[in-house]
Amino acid sequence: MIKSDAVSRYLEQTKDLYGDQLFISLANESSHVDSSDESLDQFFDKINQCQKCQLGQTRTNFVFGVGDPNADLVLVGEAPGEQEDLQGEPFVGRAGKLLDKILSAIELSRNQGVYICNVLKCHPPNNRDPLPSEVEQCESYLIHQINLIKPRLIVALGRVAAKTLLKKDLPLKDMRSIKHDYHGTPLVATYHPAALLRNQNLKPAAWEDFKWIRRLIGESK
Ligand code: URA
Repeated sequence: MIKSDAVSRYLEQTKDLYGDQLFISLANESSHVDSSDESLDQFFDKINQCQKCQLGQTRTNFVFGVGDPNADLVLVGEAPGEQEDLQGEPFVGRAGKLLDKILSAIELSRNQGVYICNVLKCHPPNNRDPLPSEVEQCESYLIHQINLIKPRLIVALGRVAAKTLLKKDLPLKDMRSIKHDYHGTPLVATYHPAALLRNQNLKPAAWEDFKWIRRLIGESK
């Protein structure tokens, strides 16, 4: 027998994640309120037709995320760019290539120990910043991805991702070098790789951040 407060909680969470669609597993009784054995692929299947905000109308692809489903490290950018929208994968443009090089310098890669995604899953036209209303609709997808992956560390890439996740309107320099918390998982903020392409002078500080990130993942094992 399922208690009614558990049912209400389940329905509220489901509404947050999936809008008005209701998914019920008929596998066995104990799985009715427990989605802990859901895979990332199953979650993607449930949400990739999302039309909760206007970006659903303009996107080419729903850019869910890529990488190791058991990653220790989740990297979060702000939103897919043009290339990402076309290819359906986060960080595939020039900034993504630099990100891959940085990861390789700390002996990680997007397929091994790392998962890469964005706060928004759809490309905002003209690369504008995410709107608060879009973040409000989309952030529960990110939270659920993180709950499924259970990483040791989250890294927010750039000021927009950091301020959106931390709900603090601060310059990046005031959010760097601090271990924050995001729904129970440690989070640190560093430069967006596109900022490093624009300003080479930021690279030494970013390199210090990534060496620290490597140590933080190691320490938590
Ligand atoms: N910038 C981001 O923040 N995310 C991407 O996926 C690509 C560029």
